[in-house]
Amino acid sequence: MAIRVAVPRETQQGERRVALVPSLVKQMDKLGVQVLLEKGAGLESGFEDADYEGVKLVDSAEKAFQQADITLKVQPPTVEESGKLKKGSILVGFLTPHEGDSRIRTLVKNRITAFSMELVPRITRAQAIDALSSQASISGYKAALLAANLSPRLFPMLTTAAGTIKPSRVVVVGAGVAGLQAIATAKRLGAVVEAYDVRSATKEQVESLGGKFIDTGVKAEGEGGYARELSEEEQRQQAKVLADHVARADAVITTAAIPGRPAPKIIDQATVERMKRGAVIIDLAAETGGNCALTKAGKEVNHNGVLVYGPKHVPSSLCQHASEMYARNLYNLLTLIVKEGKIALDWEDQVQRDSCLTHDGEVRHGPTRERLEGGKKS
Ligand code: NAI
Repeated sequence: MAIRVAVPRETQQGERRVALVPSLVKQMDKLGVQVLLEKGAGLESGFEDADYEGVKLVDSAEKAFQQADITLKVQPPTVEESGKLKKGSILVGFLTPHEGDSRIRTLVKNRITAFSMELVPRITRAQAIDALSSQASISGYKAALLAANLSPRLFPMLTTAAGTIKPSRVVVVGAGVAGLQAIATAKRLGAVVEAYDVRSATKEQVESLGGKFIDTGVKAEGEGGYARELSEEEQRQQAKVLADHVARADAVITTAAIPGRPAPKIIDQATVERMKRGAVIIDLAAETGGNCALTKAGKEVNHNGVLVYGPKHVPSSLCQHASEMYARNLYNLLTLIVKEGKIALDWEDQVQRDSCLTHDGEVRHGPTRERLEGGKKS
């Protein structure tokens, strides 16, 4: 019998993406899997059930879970949903390994082999599976559009009969995947862009997009291409130099993150108070605590005429393309674990080994195991 792959409707509030798009159904078929799609799963992303030609439609997620050998998700399942997955089956999705201990314990109890998209290693071979990157590039693009939309000023320089308009100055903080896409988008809209990141390797990338790199003298490359947390002295030095650039900006886009940790606070209230009326801050780190001290996730905060907006569920606002890219990431991962129509897990493969959160009644991800064994709640 063919391997059955469940694709339920996402239930988390604000989540509009879906883990499979119609254009991939044929490829799933070629892989030798049968898709069980919960009715209406793709609707929020603009895909009708009828668009998924060849899948088996099921009335409820529960029915799909019970029969499926593999479940594909966007957001982590709830504790209740985790308990309904077929014992010993595979789960793939953003599983937030740094939190949700009850859910993780339920996965362990049910001997679920869970692959967490956040844990996919950032190696060249895994780029086509890297969902953090695919979704971050969407967020970066959208952040620049939000900034332009909320700003009372034009982004491009305009020379008109009614006078010459100066281009907006945009500062991007954090030049990872999202930040670089924000820089590229703001540049396309005609803004003058400056950017900053603690990883000095980003200088060249910022410049190649036409941005100017802000040098604060603080460098903090961490492991695996990520940033490390800064010392207090480094934070002070960074804040001092950055504050002058932020204070002059018409729009600021912040994207700084440290995996599994709260977002670093980079813009304090005093800096916001130095900004011009009409300036906007788009804080992409809002959902992990925000890079700006005044950020309230999901809210527009007006502080003395400066607008601080920390949008939530940003990839969901572009759910059609976000789903297409995410579903492609999942499909590419499936091609590693399904061979000739059979599940063939391979722990010699770094991608499978590193991205595995739970397997065979154990937590496989070291930091998560230590946290759970330590009994710390999250
Ligand atoms: P992220 O979402 O964890 O962080 C965003 C950015 O914030 C990073 O560039 C980080 O250096 C920066 N940051 C952290 N603390 C900061 C602070 N205090 N001040 C200013 N900036 C701060 O990172 P993301 O975007 O997911 O990836 C980071 C990097 O990982 C990429 O730019 C790339 O170099 C590497 N990468 C490698 C891949 C591969 O080889 N397959 C794939 C994707 C990313």
